[in-house]
Amino acid sequence: MNEIRFNKKQHSHSDEVGDIVIDHLSKTFKTDDKEVVAIKDFSLDIKKGELISVVGPSGCGKTTLLRCIAGLEKPTSGTVSSNGKVFTEPGADRGMVFQDFALFPWRSVRKNVEFGMEVAGVPKAERRERAEKYLKLVGLENFMDARIHELSGGMKQRVGIARAFVNNPDVILMDEPFGALDAQTRNIMQMELVKILEKTDQTIIFITHSVEEAVFLSDRVVVLTKRPAEIKEIIDVPWPRPRNRTDPEFTALRKKILDELEKENVMTG
Ligand SMILES: Nc1ncnc2c1ncn2[C@@H]1O[C@H](COP(=O)(O)OP(=O)(O)OP(=O)(O)O)[C@@H](O)[C@H]1O
Ligand SMILES: [Mg+2]
Repeated sequence: MNEIRFNKKQHSHSDEVGDIVIDHLSKTFKTDDKEVVAIKDFSLDIKKGELISVVGPSGCGKTTLLRCIAGLEKPTSGTVSSNGKVFTEPGADRGMVFQDFALFPWRSVRKNVEFGMEVAGVPKAERRERAEKYLKLVGLENFMDARIHELSGGMKQRVGIARAFVNNPDVILMDEPFGALDAQTRNIMQMELVKILEKTDQTIIFITHSVEEAVFLSDRVVVLTKRPAEIKEIIDVPWPRPRNRTDPEFTALRKKILDELEKENVMTG
């Protein structure tokens, strides 16, 4: 198979997303009869090119945090910015992979992956070529003209990943992207993500419920408290990828993080 190389960004440094600064971010949802504080006074710096995982109890505010970074949710107070530029709306510089795939059911696999490029006005021949490159990368070369309903869950998520990476955004936001997959497919997808990472310098913010997945993939793991989300601990994972899940050091770190999370859950219950 031909080695697939990724196009480096053509644009100047000034508009490229660098380190991401989350500064005293708070988000409160107001409904008719109550207020829900999802995130409270949350600050974190994320380095350019870093893969950072976020783990925390269910409902603690992880998706809300990601949606604030994506510009899909407006903070109640505080900011998310890079190079002094505040993210106030979604942009092509930040791609998102959703847990529920969020594909267009009436479009073919190929047309799903081409969508962002269509919006950006990329010429047809180039769209096609780029979509095919990424669909090959995620192993869907034989399903490019299939309809979404013909695909398994794992295949759908591959389309979602190709769709995010094909636009070569500076940042990829992944909200439990492998949560709906069976264990075996999940391991395969994790390995494929590691392979993609070898060839890119994208910043990835990865939400997961799996501590093993977080330790397998990330440079740092952010452990959140129960809602409203605050940082409980940030753990460095120093080893090169790919990592060995059965390595005693790996399993020890995994257990340490699990113990931290368990304390949070006990506090909740
Ligand atoms: N649009 C909304 N309107 C009102 N409340 C919301 C809204 N979105 C999220 N919430 C509330 O904010 C809190 C945090 O939700 P969020 O989806 O961010 O949690 P999460 O950590 O992603 O949970 P999970 O692990 O289950 O995916 C929850 O109490 C949720 O009910
Ligand atoms: Mg969520």
